[in-house]
Amino acid sequence: MPSLFFRKPRTIRYNTFEETKILIIGLFLASCSAQPAQDPDPQPMFQPTTSVEDLMRTLVDPAADTLWDAVVITSTLEGLTEQQPETEEDWFGLERAAITLVESGNLLQMDDRAIAETGSTSEFPGIDLEPAEIAKLIDSNRQSWHRSARELHDAGTALLTAVSNRDIDGLLDGGDRLYAACENCHSRFWYEDQTANHSIPPIGISPP
Ligand code: HEC
Repeated sequence: MPSLFFRKPRTIRYNTFEETKILIIGLFLASCSAQPAQDPDPQPMFQPTTSVEDLMRTLVDPAADTLWDAVVITSTLEGLTEQQPETEEDWFGLERAAITLVESGNLLQMDDRAIAETGSTSEFPGIDLEPAEIAKLIDSNRQSWHRSARELHDAGTALLTAVSNRDIDGLLDGGDRLYAACENCHSRFWYEDQTANHSIPPIGISPP
């Protein structure tokens, strides 16, 4: 009876140098001709789940308010009083707001983001465009939309630099630039009476 533990020793054969070379070349050629695997269900790179309106309401508007309220100069009977960021915590809040604006400029440029929730309508018909009208306007003026979003990004970047340098004048200038960025886009894409001029960038807008 053959022993259970008996195994025929395997014949070990070493490849010759030539055989190894052929094998390597063969593998190389196989890898060159290999087709990239087809993903049967490709995932979209971005998922713009929320609407432009959501971004405005929850990110852009509160962040802008934080920065516009950072330096307040009040005239009183006793003279001028100035309120400005002092503690590290104050500056951190401003940094967070500036980063929110910078990145919102990118988020607004993703394709396929809805303007507002399905079924939502303009709060001020005749003054503000309806979401469907805004979407159409963006579709036919993509470049202008991207430029408007980049203006938000760039104003946010100027504010972020001012925050990093603890620069009060920079905060004030950046605040003006930010206001112009908001209103340029709104007048191109949101306000009914002005959107006809969307291709002409309005200039000289300053904060109230
Ligand atoms: C790239 C274009 C663009 C930029 C830049 C932009 N907005 Fe908007 N914003 C829109 C559009 C489009 C709407 C209208 C969405 C809708 O149908 O409600 C809107 C709506 C709003 C709303 C109304 C949201 C609501 O609850 O209905 C506020 C508030 C707002 N924006 C604030 C700002 C502020 C503040 C800034 C600048 C810091 C800014 N936006 C910059 C395009 C822009």
